[in-house]
Amino acid sequence: MTDPLPYSEKVMDHFLNPRNVGDMPDASGVGTVGNPICGDVMKMFLKIENDVIMEAKFKTFGCGAAIATSSMVTEMVKGKTITEALQISNKAVAEALGGLPAIKMHCSVLAEEALRSALQNYYEKKGLPVPFEVKKHRLDEHGH
Ligand code: FES
Repeated sequence: MTDPLPYSEKVMDHFLNPRNVGDMPDASGVGTVGNPICGDVMKMFLKIENDVIMEAKFKTFGCGAAIATSSMVTEMVKGKTITEALQISNKAVAEALGGLPAIKMHCSVLAEEALRSALQNYYEKKGLPVPFEVKKHRLDEHGH
């Protein structure tokens, strides 16, 4: 048997008591991304008013680190402008959780990509050009 991974208290807290889980039927933007390494999936919903993220929710079908990073990123984006939210990197999410074991850093990438995918969807729904680089692992366009 292997030892459990050394997760921080904050990771365990957000894994066991995730914030902002659920659907958002009136979301301004929705993004679904998959992790090519493990196949886990994260869906993020954002409510945006006047370029400010008022609310964020998520549903994650994945490991504990994926759930903890989803929970943390939905807390981090609330009240931020879109420009500020785009500055949030997977590393910043991991740091806010007190760090992740090295082999779990890839899980935090899902949180950053789900956020960007939901913002991309927000611009697309409005018929506006997406003013930032779009990442690769979006699921809703390809259906897999
Ligand atoms: S192992 Fe898949 S996101 Fe963590």
